[in-house]
Amino acid sequence: MASTTPSKPSSGGLQTTTIIAVVVVGILLIVGGIILGQATPLLFPQQASAEAAQVDNLFHIMLVIGGAIFLLVQGLLVFSMWRFRARKGETGDGEPIHGNTTLEIVWTAIPAVIVFVLTILSWQVFNSLQAPKPGEASVVVAGARFNWAFTYNVPLSILGYEVDETLLPPDVKDDLADDGTVSITSATLYSYVNQPVALAMDARDVIHAFWVPAFRVKQDLIPGRTTTVRFTPTVADTYPSGIQCAELCGANHGIMRADIVVAENEAEYNKLLTPILESRLFPPADPVVRGRAILESNVYPCYTCHVLSDLSSANWVGNVGPALDGVADRAATSRANATSQTAAEYLYTSIHEPGAYLVPGYGNLMPQLGVPECDVWAMVAYLATQSTSGSAPFEVVQPDVCIPQVSGPPGSEPPPAGEATAEAAAETEVVPAEATAEATAEGS
Ligand code: CUA
Repeated sequence: MASTTPSKPSSGGLQTTTIIAVVVVGILLIVGGIILGQATPLLFPQQASAEAAQVDNLFHIMLVIGGAIFLLVQGLLVFSMWRFRARKGETGDGEPIHGNTTLEIVWTAIPAVIVFVLTILSWQVFNSLQAPKPGEASVVVAGARFNWAFTYNVPLSILGYEVDETLLPPDVKDDLADDGTVSITSATLYSYVNQPVALAMDARDVIHAFWVPAFRVKQDLIPGRTTTVRFTPTVADTYPSGIQCAELCGANHGIMRADIVVAENEAEYNKLLTPILESRLFPPADPVVRGRAILESNVYPCYTCHVLSDLSSANWVGNVGPALDGVADRAATSRANATSQTAAEYLYTSIHEPGAYLVPGYGNLMPQLGVPECDVWAMVAYLATQSTSGSAPFEVVQPDVCIPQVSGPPGSEPPPAGEATAEAAAETEVVPAEATAEATAEGS
């Protein structure tokens, strides 16, 4: 009896102390988490999209919670190392402890609540990012080892001068939509401030991930499925390597990047797209020049896998596929023999259907890129000139559909956008037959 009496107040005192300690430690952990959470802006680049703030806010919340948990775990570790350290002469095992229902309920319930709350918050942010925005621009994205290509539908009206549609290259005529738009492709992603953008993305070969740190968006590209990512840029700037592939996709995954240019407004944006549109509408008449321009534009990923000295200024330094220096000589000799094709057919097939014949020593890595027919033939014409002699050892005949009728708008080189508009419009309107005849004569 006497031995139990004094123990009662002491145990009650301990409990009060424990509760106070838990409350104090809990407050310290929350304050510590909030302090660590202040590091959020230091961890990210500038917020350059309308979506960035909500992603950062969510991350901020997670960093506060994660910071508190980090301090709790590390604190307990340090406390245990000090409090339960082996004293001098202590050589026995620690006391075996088994089961503490209260503790287990607490450490299950608290994380469950945290995960539940984060799920709801994440779901809200995800839905907000994915929701279609009014007036959004659609851009088609092709990801292939190891580059990005962006295809836009652009109205001819951005040129600021009349275009005689009957003189457009046959493949462009086919592509011209009823609403007067034509598709153009570039290796750079263009947009402008406050223009919502929806990207429809396809992978040509393996899984890639489209990631723009400044916009806080990331989305996988999956072969055989179109995935979508949306953003609204808010800061006009050039973002070198603004897009990065965030999925290990092969030897040159690290160079799978693309620039983003965000223009101040729509007029500036149209100005950026005009030269790309003009090169599509009025391609060089010489297929060799045309083919070189296509390969130099890096809209196809060839340069990330093949080396070609003639295009080294356009980054043709890839080391994954066969080198293309002197490819015309090999096409005309060993490859033609091995494939029983003419040299031109061999080059055409190796772009159009890369797996048909594999250069010895190389695997079947090159995807079917869906290169339009006329682009392939122009590339073949250009590659035919890549010989040791410097001239084409064989002839490449362009299909009729791929021969541009004119080189430049009717009667002249493309005038700069915004200038000579009235004049060009008047000319085509008033004397269309004459202008057409003149241009045809010039092109032939
Ligand atoms: Cu594509 Cu990594």
